[in-house]
Amino acid sequence: MNAAHQTGKNRKVLVTSALLYSNGRLHVGHMAGAYIPADIYVRYLRLAGADVRFVSGSDDYGVAIMMTAEKEGKTPAEVASHYRSTHIEDFKGMGIGFDLYSGTSVNPYHAKMSQDFFKAIHDRGFFEKRTARQFYDEGRGVFLPDRYVKGTCGYCDTKDQNGDQCENCGKVLDVDHLKDARSTVSGDAAVVRDTVHWFLDLARFEKEVTTWLETAELREGTKAYVRGLLGTGLVKRAMTRDISWGIPVPLDDPDAKNKVLYVWFDAPIGYISNTIELAAQRGESLESGEAIWRTDDTEIVHFIGEDNTIFHCVIWIAMLSAEGKMKLPKGVCVNNFLNIQFPGKDVEKISKSRGSAVWIGDYLAEGGNPDALRYYLTAIAPEKARTVYNPDDLYQRFNTDLADTVGNLVNRITSFTIKHSGPAVPSFKKEVVVPADEKLIAALAETHEHVTKCLEERSFKGALEGVIEFARHCNRYVDEKAPWTTRKTDMDTTIATLVYALRAIHGLGVMLLPFIPTAAGKILSAFGRSVEDVRWNDAVNFSLEGISLQQPPILFQKADRKESADA
Ligand code: MF3
Ligand code: ZN
Repeated sequence: MNAAHQTGKNRKVLVTSALLYSNGRLHVGHMAGAYIPADIYVRYLRLAGADVRFVSGSDDYGVAIMMTAEKEGKTPAEVASHYRSTHIEDFKGMGIGFDLYSGTSVNPYHAKMSQDFFKAIHDRGFFEKRTARQFYDEGRGVFLPDRYVKGTCGYCDTKDQNGDQCENCGKVLDVDHLKDARSTVSGDAAVVRDTVHWFLDLARFEKEVTTWLETAELREGTKAYVRGLLGTGLVKRAMTRDISWGIPVPLDDPDAKNKVLYVWFDAPIGYISNTIELAAQRGESLESGEAIWRTDDTEIVHFIGEDNTIFHCVIWIAMLSAEGKMKLPKGVCVNNFLNIQFPGKDVEKISKSRGSAVWIGDYLAEGGNPDALRYYLTAIAPEKARTVYNPDDLYQRFNTDLADTVGNLVNRITSFTIKHSGPAVPSFKKEVVVPADEKLIAALAETHEHVTKCLEERSFKGALEGVIEFARHCNRYVDEKAPWTTRKTDMDTTIATLVYALRAIHGLGVMLLPFIPTAAGKILSAFGRSVEDVRWNDAVNFSLEGISLQQPPILFQKADRKESADA
């Protein structure tokens, strides 16, 4: 991946996080997949001076929400609105700083944007209207969309798969590739019936997808996976559905009656609608919002979980190419799923039905520290493969890395300086400087360079490891130079140690801002700095001369372990 980058005001970036289905609560897997990494990226880019828009919202239409509505005895709109509010609360609690969090059923521009997009593809002759065979529940008299049918994957024989995509091999499924299909509405065997739909032939966009793949910023694993899909994945996909909850198909054709856009057609268009809604909120013209997608000015980067890969890296690229006037995303940052391991149990998949999930709402309601979770989910980020969330491990990492390594360092150095030298950052005598002092500052510069490169490449785990390794270096430095001992005999050396340590701590505070914004803000408050004034390069360039230190509030309250053993 190319780490060369331009920062500064001219760099414009649109960052999107996957539009979450509004029919369930937010769990740690969602956070690790599409939200925390995006938020870190956005915070870093802003510190580096880029002009960033960060949008997301809920994905409200489609069968999944209808099914929840049926179960809960509500309308789909009520379900969507309820879960959307809980998501907004949870994101706020976790410090995810969206500029806009909308929803596909509430964004005032979304229906028209989706219909115009559909019409543009239609007018350019890329839809194929044809009679398709689809699963049908004879007892209920309804067509069975994707998720109302379950069966065995025709490619890899995994049982109990939804009608749209195999969870195991990732292949897109249809009536010909789902065996022993049955209706989840009635439990009866599903039959196959004819219905008219509008299809997008993905194979016609093989060249566009392949070309995009050459330059798109994707992780190696994602690239390999998408290349693998190009062979069998480029089928004809129906972009319309026979359900009631969705955006009407905008065609003057009797066959289009009672049909809606496929949810995976309208959902990614939600990124565009959300960009437009944000522009409107800022008092900019709607055209300028749309122009973000039509001109080359802005880099567009999507953050998603692994199950969304085919939709963003194949179907969405085909859709944008078919529409013809929109720009393709510069990057798609895909994270794998998170598994979970509760104390004394085996590693398992996160599953709502089996109760194996850690819900963000519960974590926050129990007084969980948002920075601790942000830290841990980044430290174990599933960037290349699935990783395991373990609640004991979270407390361990919080106590060791954050409370002991970072918190303790900041508190002991600031309070020691204030007590023995006074709040003004002192000046030191050059002749007492020793190699260990210079090494510390060299390590700060190296860390900053390395962390910058990692963040540009969206290797968030590597970036965070770099910062924490530097915090360990600071601790070794302070232990070795032992200012509490030298203070008794050599105040000049002591002062130099404190100033070098303070520079390092200030740098740490800046570099931690994208990851753990609350705690990092407290570190910087010790230097009287307010976060709005901080720039990414201040980590290495900022002079502490004339600064008056303040004892920062406790950075990390050591956690009491509630469940399982005491840590
Ligand atoms: N709703 C989907 C999910 O939660 C993600 C949709 S992303 C978008 O898996 F591209 F459609 F917006
Ligand atoms: Zn399969």
